[in-house]
Amino acid sequence: MSCAALDGARIVARIAQLRPGPAAPVIVKASTGSTNDDAKALARSGPVHGAVVLAEAQTHGRGRSGSRWYSPAGENLTLSIVLLPGAIGASTATFSLVVGLCVARAVEAAAGGSLRAGVKWPNDVLVERRKIAGVLIEGASGQGRATLVVGVGVNVGSRSFPPELSELATSLAREGALDVDRSLVAADIVAGVLDAWDAFASAGLEPWLGELARRDALRGRSVRVEAVSGVAEGIAPDGRLLVRTPPGDLVSVVAGHVELLDLPAQSPAR
Ligand code: BTN
Repeated sequence: MSCAALDGARIVARIAQLRPGPAAPVIVKASTGSTNDDAKALARSGPVHGAVVLAEAQTHGRGRSGSRWYSPAGENLTLSIVLLPGAIGASTATFSLVVGLCVARAVEAAAGGSLRAGVKWPNDVLVERRKIAGVLIEGASGQGRATLVVGVGVNVGSRSFPPELSELATSLAREGALDVDRSLVAADIVAGVLDAWDAFASAGLEPWLGELARRDALRGRSVRVEAVSGVAEGIAPDGRLLVRTPPGDLVSVVAGHVELLDLPAQSPAR
């Protein structure tokens, strides 16, 4: 289902409403390879905190672990935000959980509260058991400054997906939320992520742990993460996934793709 075109001026105006202050550039492209690559190029030429690249279509949209991200023209949201880490260093890996919370909130708001969005550690947003959004954070460098690019893909208007995704993915339209204004959702996500970054910079993950627990889509489910299999038991204060293995040990997992053992085997494209 095609949506109204993304409108850069409305995105800027809405971000300014939510976060008064100097505006960073917002670039809307009709088509691009990957908005994460565009944001990295932007960062190389002179990084601006909060600069955003959006595209109506991506020809080489990517997810974690080299998977591709389904990005048909005019249906969904694909955007990347440039962040200057400042004093924050290595702990940025856990920021993808916080971005997931921001996206989950924006998805629920876009649906008028008619659905509940959960976060699947470490970077997915689910509705029921299907993926509606994903987060890909990558490092970049710009004029000697370390920079982060936060890529977000949200399925908004797509009603059909390639066969390998059809059972695994959903969208706002599939969940019954029609006529969603993608420009407003984009602005909500950008403002939310920038606010969250400010809070994360001073307090880390701690303020988010309660909401992470409430939105944890894995708790109680059978999972396999790399070599660890067991039942997910929540997210630790340092952002690690806790898994109770059959012998009863509690293992904390730093990184990896979570396979849900109570679902059919997942395709690498997700
Ligand atoms: C994942 O679920 O594996 C992460 C998906 C991230 C997709 C977004 S779409 C905008 C940005 N550009 C990309 O090429 N990827 C991210």
